[in-house]
Amino acid sequence: MKLKLILAAVLLGQIATAQTRCEINLKTWDFSRDNQTWTKVEIPHDWAIAGPFDKKWDLQKVAITQNGETEATEKSGRSGALPWIGEGWYKTSIAVPAGYESAELVFDGAMADPHVSINGQEAGHWAYGYNAFRVDVTPYMKSGKLDINVHLNNREESSRWYPGAGLYRPVTLILKQKAHFDDWSLYARTISVEKDKTIVEVEGRTVNARGMHVFLQLAGPDEKKANNEVRIEHDGKFYARFVLRNPQLWTPETPNLYTLTISLGDMKNMRKMDSKTMKIGVRTVCIDREHGFQLNGRTLKLKGVCLHHDLGPLGAAINKTALIRQIKMLKAMGCNAIRTSHNMPSTWQMDICDSLGMMVMAESFDMWIYPKCKNGYARDFREWAEKDITNLVLNHRNHPSIVMWSIGNEIPEQGSEVGRQLSIQLQGLCNALDPTRPVTQGMDHAEKSIAGGYAQVMQVPGFNYRVHKYANSIKQLPQGFLLGSETASTVSSRGVYKFPVQPDDNSRYASWSPKYDPKAVKNADGQCSSYDVEYCSWSNLPDDDWVWQDDYDWVIGEFVWTGYDYLGEPTPFDEYWPARSSYFGICDLAGLPKDRYYLYKSRWNKQEHTVHLLPHWTWPDRKGQITPVYCYTDGVEGELFVNGKSQGRVRKNPKERLDRYRLRWNDVKYEPGEIRVVAYDEKGNVIGEDVRQTAGKALQLVAQTETDEHKADGEDLIYVRVCVNDKNGTPVPTCQDALTFTVSGEAKFEAVCNGDATSLESFKQPRMKLFNGELVVILRPTTKAGNVTLTVKDQRGKLKPAILNMMTTNITN
Ligand code: GAL
Repeated sequence: MKLKLILAAVLLGQIATAQTRCEINLKTWDFSRDNQTWTKVEIPHDWAIAGPFDKKWDLQKVAITQNGETEATEKSGRSGALPWIGEGWYKTSIAVPAGYESAELVFDGAMADPHVSINGQEAGHWAYGYNAFRVDVTPYMKSGKLDINVHLNNREESSRWYPGAGLYRPVTLILKQKAHFDDWSLYARTISVEKDKTIVEVEGRTVNARGMHVFLQLAGPDEKKANNEVRIEHDGKFYARFVLRNPQLWTPETPNLYTLTISLGDMKNMRKMDSKTMKIGVRTVCIDREHGFQLNGRTLKLKGVCLHHDLGPLGAAINKTALIRQIKMLKAMGCNAIRTSHNMPSTWQMDICDSLGMMVMAESFDMWIYPKCKNGYARDFREWAEKDITNLVLNHRNHPSIVMWSIGNEIPEQGSEVGRQLSIQLQGLCNALDPTRPVTQGMDHAEKSIAGGYAQVMQVPGFNYRVHKYANSIKQLPQGFLLGSETASTVSSRGVYKFPVQPDDNSRYASWSPKYDPKAVKNADGQCSSYDVEYCSWSNLPDDDWVWQDDYDWVIGEFVWTGYDYLGEPTPFDEYWPARSSYFGICDLAGLPKDRYYLYKSRWNKQEHTVHLLPHWTWPDRKGQITPVYCYTDGVEGELFVNGKSQGRVRKNPKERLDRYRLRWNDVKYEPGEIRVVAYDEKGNVIGEDVRQTAGKALQLVAQTETDEHKADGEDLIYVRVCVNDKNGTPVPTCQDALTFTVSGEAKFEAVCNGDATSLESFKQPRMKLFNGELVVILRPTTKAGNVTLTVKDQRGKLKPAILNMMTTNITN
């Protein structure tokens, strides 16, 4: 047996150059909004992101029932105020490479309602814009050429946020032999993790391969290899088992990946027919009442954030560099999980979470049968829900990062018997396709969902907000634990501080609220304060969630709404114009950290100390006025100095809402100069300091890249942070000057964003105002390695320009 295996491996190795499969990323397409005038585009592509922003695109007269509204009022910017509604067409042609007998197109998502035709014939259709789907291309191969057309249609009022528009995720043509693997049948899972006996099982289905052999090789990060071989019988299926000793497990801290190569060999003709290589992780997930959420048998709290799919100024058009930037930034905060609210993630994002070590709750729907918006997924649910869950799970179940499936968010059917049945059905479907992961959903009606026995059927009962109901809920939950599937919804604008500082649920801005104040709306500036004391009427402050997580083991963690600001849903300014993106983010739309980033970091990141002071200290109009100072730190005590004068030592106080997790000096009078904090740990050791200095006149623009290496592959992105300093090099946090950007050399201007939710400047024009002294410019390298220069100037010509020189290289990994 062993000899045969080695022989087979050698033989298959020798014929490795023969054609097995070929995967072609179809990048260049012609695009049209009217099926008449066409422009060349590269996908991933979002046709709406260039704007212009205009409230006319998505003006609605609706009541947002999720927010407790009962009367319809005019809403603008709810889905981004960008032109995503309507039809779009894409077409491309490709000559079928010789030597293949079967093929499929894989769309990782297409917004929305994609109808695919090949050589003039309808070849495939999917309704939901977020899901991956496959189209069988085999019947069209004989003609030698594939003319592929995709028609998309985005219905008005189909989304509660900006969905993007177009072929916003990759499209791949996969060519295979007649005998091949059915890719989505391939399934590798860890059955158990024990030091001496860790078991990994692999199964799959072949097509036209009876009597052939499947060779499997599992190579560890340590290069240790294990082999296996199976003969295909009449049903085409195969199953193999690996027993590993001392495996290198996948965890967020050690995202070890194994390389699984599965090859199909025709031993009679000594031909390799197909081969597929996948990165998998060896790890188990388990949840129970005694130990909560466990990864590889170790209890962890989920320190998660919710993420919508858009990438700020890039829109929905997916990009690996942008995704890596997001995940790295979140990891540095100590975040260990994301929730792909409220829909299927992209494959690239899951690959990145696998390799960087970020756990994922992969979600599916924002509604079932009962609509949340007029033309939303509720129109498709009955016909498509099972197909959608099937594709979600089959497409993604090999990603070790995914630790949980979610069948829905704040489903209006909560509490009803129909809803309970649907929960059982959808959860059952997830379990049938993937028995290794528990299933959750985010519920926002604790009492109703428990009374109807709805929450009780979920493997992981997830509750959105209303932490004060946790205590009552847990008593009635047979599971013995619960998850904060969506938390906080605290709102802030980077660099904005409002006085006086006091916790506020912001309902004065919502016409349905008894606190509604038309004057407040009229006089509003569309910004929220970064003292992190503002939230929504249904939500709360980060501190309110943490009390429950710290005091009760049965709260297995949280997913904060949200990690990043996103386009659309400008709550609390749903009725204020202009406001076209969210305020919920821990980071702003440009990806810049708000103060809140450091509040979460002080709690979540156990690897390094956090000492972060706010607000900035440049307040020419506040001389002598009370200007509270906060410090976000993992320390327990701090001493604040204003121009060297101590303002006293403050200690965290577990009994006070805002003092358990923050250090606050509430009576500080502003005087120009400097504030400095010294933070101490429990033992009285200094753990760090932070300083804010009053800035003088803006003088010098400064541009800095976020990373050092830039690939000349046409796909990498260079993120450049721009700020402005005074003559001493102190950043000027109040500067709002309008800038221009000129790029020369081997890169092009891609986009710019300042994180201002009220800005109507296009992301795609090389000019923008600073927002509170900062913005981010994004460049795209060409495919030729070389020098790149970015020149940043202010439009008034008063500031010294920033000239940034960079190099792009031919790094291939
Ligand atoms: C939740 C909802 C999210 C978002 C959030 C804003 O109820 O699930 O999608 O709307 O509120 O606070």
